[in-house]
Amino acid sequence: MAVIDQLTSQEAIDLENKYGAHNYHPLPVVLSRGEGVHVWDVEGKQYYDFLSAYSAVNQGHCHPKIVAAMTKQAQTLTLTSRAFYNDMLGKYEKYASETFNFDKLLPMNTGAEAVETALKLCRKWAYEVKGIDENEAEIVVCENNFHGRTTTIISFSNDPIARKNFGPYTNGFIKIEYNNLEALEDTLKNNPNVAGFLVEPIQGEAGVYVPSEGYLAKAKAICEAHNVLFIADEVQTGIARTGKMLAVDHENVKPDILILGKALSGGAYPVSAILANDNIMNVIKPGNHGSTFGGNPIAAAVAIAALEVVKDENLANNAQELGDLFRSELSKFIETSSIVNSVRGKGLLNAILINDTEDSDTAWNICLKLRDNGLLAKPTHGNIIRFAPPLVMTKEQLLDCVSIIIKTLKEFES
Ligand SMILES: Cc1ncc(COP(=O)(O)O)c(C=O)c1O
Repeated sequence: MAVIDQLTSQEAIDLENKYGAHNYHPLPVVLSRGEGVHVWDVEGKQYYDFLSAYSAVNQGHCHPKIVAAMTKQAQTLTLTSRAFYNDMLGKYEKYASETFNFDKLLPMNTGAEAVETALKLCRKWAYEVKGIDENEAEIVVCENNFHGRTTTIISFSNDPIARKNFGPYTNGFIKIEYNNLEALEDTLKNNPNVAGFLVEPIQGEAGVYVPSEGYLAKAKAICEAHNVLFIADEVQTGIARTGKMLAVDHENVKPDILILGKALSGGAYPVSAILANDNIMNVIKPGNHGSTFGGNPIAAAVAIAALEVVKDENLANNAQELGDLFRSELSKFIETSSIVNSVRGKGLLNAILINDTEDSDTAWNICLKLRDNGLLAKPTHGNIIRFAPPLVMTKEQLLDCVSIIIKTLKEFES
């Protein structure tokens, strides 16, 4: 078999199972093409993508403007490393810094790398600006967080599957309950060595937990009062997903450090970044941090195009309007449903809670049926199904998806 032979779905799955590490449990569907809100499997069946690669493909699959920018740059200059300047990085840094209203950007590739970068920046700021004794800095994080998969990041996860047998773990983190301002206030009051508070504005992987209104603004105020950096991980919630450019914009909060990834490239290329003002970012000096691919010319060209698409196509407004419609349509169904307990979310980051035990396979079976009915989604934790379509969806398409989802759920009503 030549490697370029067209495979059947089963052959492709068998190959991954035999030659790939089993670090994921994918839904059995093999995709070979995508355009806008749709993807197609190798047999040619069309699906609505209701996951968007975990909110990376906000701009839709293979957006022509992003693909054109990437292709043009790929034919011109791909990689210089940061040993030399390139003529795209500065343009991107200026455009993104102005877009998000920060002085500076530090480019990386993946979400986890950007989180690591934020943690390092926060610690360095703690020692060199805040005046904490060396090696004593603490960063406050939330229970049920998801910030990526590196050794340090899983050190402060409380997901046993992500953690077990990966120790020894990195010290310097204090875990508090999410959406609990009193816990934050008490922790900062009692620990003068706290340098930062790392938080997801909505906990995505945990099951799309939206905190109480005012939580982010009050948490920011508490951090400010204690000279603690408010670090927003918007890798999943950012770039218009929740109906605003950033999820913190719903409460007019400006983070001290902003972490972006995923849709910063529209899913075309691994691009991540952190943004901060000079008083924080300037503690980073040559040699302190970096990445061979971070800030490469393709990433820069792609990210500019991806952000332009979000603005030009008003994707935040679309996410806001379609999200409201989605939740109201599903709420109507849930009133009389025995299989779904609730729907929650913001913009087009939503989840439904299936009426079954956490360890049941009902959510998985529903996702298999959704697939058969032409819509792809995946359970997050246990009995929760996340719904996060590309933001370029039309109202007609969304209503079509709602009817697929309701029709499928009805098959599971007892
Ligand atoms: C909030 C958040 N932070 C960080 C990450 C890690 O991003 P990556 O998978 O690109 O490393 C994710 C990924 O899902 C995420 O949702």
